[in-house]
Amino acid sequence: MNGSNEGSTGPIIIGSDHAAFPLKERVKRFLQNKGFQVTDAGCGGEASVNYAEYGMKVSGAVSRGEYKRGILLCGTGLGMSMVANRFPHVRAALCNDLFSAQMSRRHNDANILVLGGRVIGEALAMEIVGVWLDTAFEGGRHQERLDTFDAIPCRNE
Ligand code: RB5
Repeated sequence: MNGSNEGSTGPIIIGSDHAAFPLKERVKRFLQNKGFQVTDAGCGGEASVNYAEYGMKVSGAVSRGEYKRGILLCGTGLGMSMVANRFPHVRAALCNDLFSAQMSRRHNDANILVLGGRVIGEALAMEIVGVWLDTAFEGGRHQERLDTFDAIPCRNE
């Protein structure tokens, strides 16, 4: 590997909707127990909320460079992924398995991990978070590929 894992030990911002609130709380404790400084962007309970609002808070903070890494959770992880990948410089990866989590770092330099709280259990989620944080980006040809799509202007055609 010639890439970096920059950001893997820095502060992390996390957010979820109601559907994944219990898993967010569990992931937050997991990270805090590992010594990470965690900013919780909400939501604050299991009452129904709009996932886009929380996805935008976390994605905006990563997009602006305030955090190098973020974690988003909703029921499936799909809605949060759609929101997050609208933000410049955000590479959000929905990873409900360990292989995707590892490859999202090695090849895609994912800076937001998305989890489906109604798809995976707690034990697998903790493993996924651990692997995602520990795996470095390989750089090289993969950086060239990221540069290619990072240069795509926002457009509707
Ligand atoms: C909430 O009911 C659900 O739609 C949301 O958590 C998420 O799965 C959306 O993609």
